[in-house]
Amino acid sequence: MTRTPEFPISPIFVHRWSPRAMSGEPLTQSAVASLLEAARFAPSASNVQPWRVVCALAGTSLFDAVFQGLVPANQTWCVRAGALLVWMSRRELDNGQPFRSHAFDAGAAWMSLALQGSQDGLVVHAMLGIDEAKVRAAVAAPAGFDVQCVIALGHPGALDQLSESQRARENPSPRKPQSEWAVFGAWPEGRT
Ligand SMILES: Cc1cc2nc3c(=O)[nH]c(=O)nc-3n(C[C@H](O)[C@H](O)[C@H](O)COP(=O)(O)O)c2cc1C
Repeated sequence: MTRTPEFPISPIFVHRWSPRAMSGEPLTQSAVASLLEAARFAPSASNVQPWRVVCALAGTSLFDAVFQGLVPANQTWCVRAGALLVWMSRRELDNGQPFRSHAFDAGAAWMSLALQGSQDGLVVHAMLGIDEAKVRAAVAAPAGFDVQCVIALGHPGALDQLSESQRARENPSPRKPQSEWAVFGAWPEGRT
């Protein structure tokens, strides 16, 4: 593990990362449901829970249709995914008013799923390298939903299935120091 926290944190945060090497073994519906259950307990503004998810298990025509909506670079490794999830958020409330935190809340739910998957020893990898129109058509996404990303899930697999450049990147990536993006006090003028 190449990641070293600067301050004490739970190991679950340090151990989560986004591998690409998967075995091709299908995931069961109950394994995916366990990950979704973690997402279920994510916080959201007014407890609206605006995330909406379509789950496509490997070996189904739905999986093939979502897979066709990935950019070729993502298809090269997602061919061995056990499931693809289309992670969406509903932009409006039941009363038709815009719901400002739909994307933020869907992000919290995705991270809960990612942490649970990592704890379960699974690969969980978000992707925005997608053809959104194709993904939307594949899952019949309603007009009021935003597609936030597609998530590849799978059992870990052998590195030699990956391309050379993918193999070179198959490690937990570094992070900016906390001091680059958090301040105690007002935001310093001119700082990005
Ligand atoms: C919204 C989102 C979109 C991403 N899109 C892609 C993608 O299309 N292809 C890919 O290989 N990785 C993608 N990633 C993975 C990120 O590159 C990765 O999460 C980031 O480099 C941090 O690494 P880590 O998740 O291993 O900690 C995406 C991640 C997020 C959160």
